[in-house]
Amino acid sequence: MLHQADVTALPVTDASFDRALSVQVLEYVADPAAALAELHRALRPGGRLVVWDVDWSTVSWHSADPDRMRRVLAIWDGHLADPCLPRTLAARMRSAGFGDIRAEGHTFASAEFTPDSYGAAVLPLIQQYVAGREDITGEAAGRWAAEQHELGERGEFFFACIQFCFTATRPG
Ligand SMILES: C[S@@+](CC[C@H](N)C(=O)[O-])C[C@H]1O[C@@H](n2cnc3c(N)ncnc32)[C@H](O)[C@@H]1O
Repeated sequence: MLHQADVTALPVTDASFDRALSVQVLEYVADPAAALAELHRALRPGGRLVVWDVDWSTVSWHSADPDRMRRVLAIWDGHLADPCLPRTLAARMRSAGFGDIRAEGHTFASAEFTPDSYGAAVLPLIQQYVAGREDITGEAAGRWAAEQHELGERGEFFFACIQFCFTATRPG
């Protein structure tokens, strides 16, 4: 059965799952402690949790206008509840009662503007979000995105960020 629900109020009975997976969700949740408490409640003792989130402060993105890039990424941070959640996630998992907590960082890096690269994939999402916010007009957001296409055409595109995978167990 498939449920669509808020992660802080899961419509499932206690200890009813062997595994739980959360991919780029907790970074959007205002109360990650409540979400982790729910995941802990839903897992059976011995059940495993995998949480994947991005630390957006790790983004390294080439631009001839680094000040505009910095402002665009600062505005983009505003669409997240916590753009640096991985920094505190292990401690939050421990507080929620999880054990055997491990963290691994995965670098998503691309020196080519290909549709399957993470940087190229998030470009239109960021353009849409920042357009008309703070000092970034729709036109400025368009110029910001256009520069990345131009860099790609010239073979000068570069994007990298670190995405973190945390695994943990509900103690038996
Ligand atoms: C960037 S998307 C990730 C979607 C998918 N996991 C993936 O990796 O493609 C963020 C997702 O978090 C979900 N989300 C945000 N807050 C949530 C909450 N409180 N409870 C459940 N889901 C939430 C949104 O509905 C959205 O689907």
